[in-house]
Amino acid sequence: MPATCVIGLQWGDEAKGKIVDLLTAKNDVVVRYQGGANAGHTVVFGGNKYKLSLIPSGVFRPEVKSVIASGVVIDPEAILGEISRLRASGVEIEKNLLISERAHVIFPWHKEEDRLMNDVGVRNEAIGTTLRGIGPCYRDKVGRSTAVRVGDLYRADFPERIRKICALKNQQLPSLAKNEETRATVVTLDVEKIIADYQNYAEQLKPFVGDVVNYLLDAVDADKNILLEGAQGSLLDVDYGTFPYVTSSNSSGVGITAGSGIPATFFKRIVGIVKAYTTRVGGGPFPTELHDEIGDRIRDRGNEYGTVTRRPRRCGWFDAVAVRYTSRLGGATELSVMLLDVLSGFETINLCVAYELDGKRINYFPSDVDDLARVKPIYETLPGWSEEITDVRSYDDLPENAKKYLARLSEVVGKPISIVSVGPSRDQTIIR
Ligand code: IMP
Repeated sequence: MPATCVIGLQWGDEAKGKIVDLLTAKNDVVVRYQGGANAGHTVVFGGNKYKLSLIPSGVFRPEVKSVIASGVVIDPEAILGEISRLRASGVEIEKNLLISERAHVIFPWHKEEDRLMNDVGVRNEAIGTTLRGIGPCYRDKVGRSTAVRVGDLYRADFPERIRKICALKNQQLPSLAKNEETRATVVTLDVEKIIADYQNYAEQLKPFVGDVVNYLLDAVDADKNILLEGAQGSLLDVDYGTFPYVTSSNSSGVGITAGSGIPATFFKRIVGIVKAYTTRVGGGPFPTELHDEIGDRIRDRGNEYGTVTRRPRRCGWFDAVAVRYTSRLGGATELSVMLLDVLSGFETINLCVAYELDGKRINYFPSDVDDLARVKPIYETLPGWSEEITDVRSYDDLPENAKKYLARLSEVVGKPISIVSVGPSRDQTIIR
């Protein structure tokens, strides 16, 4: 069977983890291929709630190989924390986790750079990163000279390389501070401690590290069932998202091949995950954002607070212009609509079907954030439903108005809906 991909079609946090977990049972391998510990997914398993950041949700099934591919940036301390929490709850991961030796490694200087450069005052608004060192690590990867990959941790010259990098970073860091006050807070890197810490991490990670590319290409040749799990959402894609208010990787469908090394011809099913509404964390334009009690109600009902940073998420109506764009970009074969239960009890529900830009109606997603910041959403108002739907298990049993809302959403986006989620548990899922 060819590979299945799960990607977020909004600004992240679309509850991809739940769908990945659901589809995992039908797969032999689950792959994370971009992003890092900026992602966070919650998986409810065996009555327990697990928060995972780097480790794929497939890890709960011993028969499934969980792979962290080359496009991911790895914070060793974060991943070891996840591994020890999983071990403490009795989850066996010894034989089923594989980490790419090509993946890049996050170091303390990346987090410090993230803190200093998140808001350098060049633009009106800070990017509002998760401060996990993601952008600086990808910057070093593309810049090459000071980058360190997982495989490098095991080289004899590792300490020497780190000494050279630290000397350079200790020179550069103070110059990144935007004022004297911030400069006074810049940390000096403790080189020998970093070397010792990372050698210790490397030792603990050793059993999991291997050549992921060959492993995956062999899996492709053996016609194994492979599930690829995107992190963040397509609108945060560094090339196709709301640049510069994006993450530093290709988080839309275009990143799957680059991040995993699996050829595009192998992907046949691409499930685009959306919430029944929209959320965003961090800075950047958000045309359908609600600054009123409706937005607050969505946040409360949907528990819309970041898994990683606990920041309250910005909430708004479903933006079908944005999702039409990202679903076409990612080649989504279908949509999975999450958190539909959150919309129960609203008298009416708005669906953004087009934008108005400078007095003209447009139905495309502008490439420029300043244009996007100026668009006004054009809404269709649909009747809501009062019933709670968390116990509904078949599409036909959904309230008529919920079905009408989904049908219109699917029509405007231009993709069929194959899955509807009405609650966090595995069984609160309607498969069509
Ligand atoms: P970074 O990925 O930490 O550099 O953050 C860049 C932008 O992406 C910020 O707006 C973050 O809030 C956002 N972001 C990063 N990871 C996630 C995620 O997993 N969910 C939602 N937003 C994210």
